[in-house]
Amino acid sequence: MYILLILVVIILIYICYVYFVNQTDVIAEHFSPEQVEEPFDNFFVNVYNTVFDYPYLFTYDGKLIKKYAKPEHKILDAGTGVGRHYKVLYDSGCKNIIGVDMSGKMINKAKARCNGDFQVGDLMSDDLFKSDAFDVITCLQETIYHNNNDKIDRILKNFHRWLKKDGVLIMHIFNTDQLDPAPKDYSQYYTDNHGIKHSLTYFDGFIHDAWWDDGKYYQRVILEDGHNKVSTLNLNMIGKKELVEKIQKAGFKMKEVIDYRHLNITQYEMYVFSKS
Ligand SMILES: C[S@@+](CC[C@H](N)C(=O)[O-])C[C@H]1O[C@@H](n2cnc3c(N)ncnc32)[C@H](O)[C@@H]1O
Repeated sequence: MYILLILVVIILIYICYVYFVNQTDVIAEHFSPEQVEEPFDNFFVNVYNTVFDYPYLFTYDGKLIKKYAKPEHKILDAGTGVGRHYKVLYDSGCKNIIGVDMSGKMINKAKARCNGDFQVGDLMSDDLFKSDAFDVITCLQETIYHNNNDKIDRILKNFHRWLKKDGVLIMHIFNTDQLDPAPKDYSQYYTDNHGIKHSLTYFDGFIHDAWWDDGKYYQRVILEDGHNKVSTLNLNMIGKKELVEKIQKAGFKMKEVIDYRHLNITQYEMYVFSKS
């Protein structure tokens, strides 16, 4: 009887060990610091494309942007990602638009979404475009936060130089005290044993578990076969005041701030800056 009990305990310990080793292997693989340059592998580009899909919101953003972006304008969609804002603008008549992203995998997805003009490149590179090249630059969602403070300064300087005299910069700026891991309004929440708030969202074929910790956004995808894949987005979530000061220091003047409170979104606002 005792031998049987000991055997059951050993088997249970073995199962826990195998499960734990599998999990940490996957975590180690996806937490690699090399991912800073190319944070999205194909798996997480697909996850991003599915999980953060808000057609109504991108259409609404498009309407806001169209107040400034006219069909005859030359537009840069900086950090175009999978090209969702790009497509809304393109379909609304802004055909003279270029989408730039440092992730080739994101650009591939954007190209599959829209038959437009896309380029892999780092917004930090001074020679990406000539001076006075654009009427409007959009830099949406968390794009700017993928960069450290020095890079942000260099990118803002580039934006200022790339814009024409009457040009505008349209950016999403986050309220960093309101960060919410949940990708959907039907996401559920739980708190882990370190006191960190997670969101849990059920999708067709996988569960998405996400949390913010120390400015990083973590996502664990639990597949139907029980396997986990974890990704970390090493974001530099600088405060709103500090970021706005940086933008003004780069030479921009604040023109308009649009909030999304009527859509129950308090995490970020859209800021419009003029070049001069
Ligand atoms: C949240 S996505 C933008 C959302 C996009 N509007 C969409 O429709 O999917 C942020 C993107 O910014 C890109 N990004 C961040 N910093 C960048 C930089 N310095 N140069 C080029 N792309 C950058 C990232 O690779 C990422 O794909």
